[in-house]
Amino acid sequence: MSVRNLRRVALAGLGALALQASSSLAAEVCNPNQALSGAALFSENCAACHGADATGGKTPKGVLAPNLTVLTSKGQGKFPAPRLAAIIRYGGALPDHTISQQMPVWAKVFYLECGPEYSRRVVVELMKYVESLQK
Ligand code: HEC
Repeated sequence: MSVRNLRRVALAGLGALALQASSSLAAEVCNPNQALSGAALFSENCAACHGADATGGKTPKGVLAPNLTVLTSKGQGKFPAPRLAAIIRYGGALPDHTISQQMPVWAKVFYLECGPEYSRRVVVELMKYVESLQK
C-alpha cells in the first residue's frame, strides 16, 4: 500500500473530515521548499472541530472540541508546550485525537505522507500558532 493510500485509510476514520482534509492537503503536501503557515495548518487540520478562531466547536460526531485560546490560562499562566506537542504528535490519549489506538493522528499522518522533517516542521508551526492565540 502506498503512503498516500495509507493516509486515506487513516483519514477515513474521521468521516466527513477526511474529504476536507485530503483535498486541501493535496495542494501543498510535502513541498520542502514551501514555508509552512501555522494559521493555514490550523485551518486545514484543526478548525473543523476547534473552530476557525480556535475558541471551540464540535466534532462531526457532535463531541465538544475545547477552546484552544485558553490553554495558558488553564495552565496557571504557563503555555503547556510539552502537552500540546504530545497531543499533536501522538494524540495525547484523547479519544478524538486518535483514529484508532494504534494510529494516532496529526504528526503521524504528516509523517507517513511527507517524512520526519516535514512532520517536525508542522508540529513546530502549529505550536507557535496555537501559542500566539493565547488570551
Ligand atoms: C476530529 C475533531 C478534532 C480535530 C480535527 C482536532 N481536534 Fe483537538 N480535540 C478534539 C476533541 C473532541 C478534544 C477533547 C478531548 C477528546 O475528546 O479527545 C480535543 C482536545 C484538544 C486539546 C486539549 C485541549 C485542552 O483544553 O486540554 C488540544 C491542545 C487540541 N485538541 C489541539 C488540536 C490541534 C492543534 C489540532 C490540529 C492539529 C486539533 N486539535 C484537531 C477534537 C479535534
